[in-house]
Amino acid sequence: MRVLSGIQPSGRLHIGNYFGAMRQHIQMQQGNECFFFIADYHALTSNPAPKDIADFTLDVAMSYLAMGLDPEKTIFWRQSDVPEVTELTWLLSCVTPMGLLHRCTSYKDKISQGLTPNHGLFAYPVLQAADILIYKSNVVPVGADQKQHIEVTRDIAGFFNNTYGEVFVLPADYIIESVAVVPGVDGRKMSKSYGNTIELFEPEKSIKNKVMKIVTDSTPVEAPKNPDKCNVFALLKLFASAEEIKQWDDKYRKGGTGYGEAKKRLAELIIEYFGPYREKRAELEKNPDYARQILTKGAQRARAIAVKTLEQARNAVGLGDYYVH
Ligand code: TRP
Repeated sequence: MRVLSGIQPSGRLHIGNYFGAMRQHIQMQQGNECFFFIADYHALTSNPAPKDIADFTLDVAMSYLAMGLDPEKTIFWRQSDVPEVTELTWLLSCVTPMGLLHRCTSYKDKISQGLTPNHGLFAYPVLQAADILIYKSNVVPVGADQKQHIEVTRDIAGFFNNTYGEVFVLPADYIIESVAVVPGVDGRKMSKSYGNTIELFEPEKSIKNKVMKIVTDSTPVEAPKNPDKCNVFALLKLFASAEEIKQWDDKYRKGGTGYGEAKKRLAELIIEYFGPYREKRAELEKNPDYARQILTKGAQRARAIAVKTLEQARNAVGLGDYYVH
């Protein structure tokens, strides 16, 4: 299976990114041909400072490498190093009905969060479709919020194939529902735009402080508590062993254990879990050129494939060799 996914360089990666997508990405390297890229063209749609795009691109690269992305096996690159994808976006735009894009909820969500309604933001799903289709991907592992974009990709591929002949492979999405939503410290979905994240590689002290601030209800220590309604428990479930989860479940239901105790344990577990990766990451930071070189090599491999698909698409629409009648 050819697996592909993109990660926006729009901030430092956090626990929500990890359980929502990154962990699956790393695991899927076993037994699949993986294509992962840093979606900097997509990040531009929210008009970040130029310096931030560069910094976050390197940050995402080093985080993935630290967490176990294997650059020998997996093709890993920066989206904008394969500019063919923007030309394909145009060819796809011309078979994409406006109504399809009007129905996309992520555009509306972003506008309601205060982003400028520019054309790039509106056309975002077409660029995403080009990303997926140019590499003829079969499976696209993404967070639940991206499901609609994969459906739109299939629709666009279908319109194109029906109009011009079979060029594109229709991809499937892949979502692990049970961990698709990770609560942030305020109890809402963990997301950079809510400012409620715990980053993978932030200093241990700051992880502890944030965990201690996780919002809980005001059930007194002695009283029984409902683990299924607790943000701390939801996070514990991601890090603790099955046996330990069971113990916490019992303690909650019995009463006599305060949220503070659960928080302390949660902070320990998070720090323990990311400990070895933190060391690897510190090593990578000593030589940022290593990560840059990986991306450059990855782009060469990705581009070789993109160029071919683009040529097929150009030929299909009539932009190949031209004829004088
Ligand atoms: N839109 C994705 C996100 O915000 C990032 C992305 C861009 C992507 N292109 C992609 C994901 C192609 C999967 C496939 O998370």
